Amino acid sequence: MEQATAMLGANIVSVGVIGCGTVGHAITQITAQAGIGVTVVEISEGALAAGRARISRSLARLASAEKLGDQTPEEIEARIHGTLDYGDLADCRLVVEAVYEDLDTKLRLWRALDGVLAAEAVCATNTSSLAVIDQAVATGRPERFVGLHFFNPPQVMLLVEVIRTVSTSPAALELALAYVARLGKEPVPAADRAGFIVNRLLVPYAMDAVRILEAGHGSMPGIDTAMRAGAGYPMGPFALLDFIGLDIVLAICETMFAEYREQRFSAPPTIRRLVAAGFLGRKSGRGFYDYSGGEPAPADLALGGSPPAAAQAAG
Ligand code: CAA
Repeated sequence: MEQATAMLGANIVSVGVIGCGTVGHAITQITAQAGIGVTVVEISEGALAAGRARISRSLARLASAEKLGDQTPEEIEARIHGTLDYGDLADCRLVVEAVYEDLDTKLRLWRALDGVLAAEAVCATNTSSLAVIDQAVATGRPERFVGLHFFNPPQVMLLVEVIRTVSTSPAALELALAYVARLGKEPVPAADRAGFIVNRLLVPYAMDAVRILEAGHGSMPGIDTAMRAGAGYPMGPFALLDFIGLDIVLAICETMFAEYREQRFSAPPTIRRLVAAGFLGRKSGRGFYDYSGGEPAPADLALGGSPPAAAQAAG
């Protein structure tokens, strides 16, 4: 069985990735690192150039840590074809979307791609929490549709959740598992339920951290330090939320709350206010922390409506 998976993986010569942003650039990169040709599609030359620059930076980091084996960054980058044209995906055996976490955006994408992709191509969504079946039925190939959920940063994190829907065929699932194995990642099968496994557990934990901050259990850096030093987590919950992106977290909460109707899946007010202000975390330079200086500094969350510390000091 393992040998069959390895053979299937070895036969994958061409993968398409839609979106070269936070996760898309990384999926493109690790696919090329695995020796597979990748076609990555973006909506503008600017977005494509930004994604390719991220790939170059990440490969340089891995090369300087001697983590690329006998490959050079140039060899890996030569396997990547960036384009604005969906037509270039016609020969791909597997196409993974990593566009913005919004169902309508993803549905429009799949409808546009359906006539372009090869009949035998398998499609995968990298959704964090949306029901995979809703996207599968928007294509003419619901039996060749799976979820492949990567974790940030995909260059480092080993897990890929592999989601089979009620209509996924065994052959499509096998191909998805073979691809993940070829990447050297750890596939974990997960049911098509909002949040799958990791976000179903991780997001309510992080939302509880926001709630205990709002209730005054501790300071933000204090809670982050407590979970790192006391529970061995690599990042505290607020650093993690900023790392994921608060808009993404809010979207995940809304999907899970809509599915389970339990209060613990709803986003606390602080998250909604930060997203409304455009304070989305690291990517926007401010979220729970302010990243404009050298070291991240706790941002003013205006909790309790109190004046900022500087105004208080001024009396
Ligand atoms: N490309 C290449 N290498 C990278 C990298 C990247 N983008 N990011 C980190 N690395 C490498 C570094 O080069 C470093 O390598 P060395 O050990 O060889 O030096 C190693 O990873 C560790 O990185 P850093 O030294 O910069 O920092 P760190 O030790 O604090 O680790 C981290 C950073 C890996 C992000 C770590 O803090 C961590 O594991 N955090 C938790 C991340 C997490 O929980 N992710 C899941 C989020 S949930 C999600 O993604 C799902 C969703 O749907 C929202």
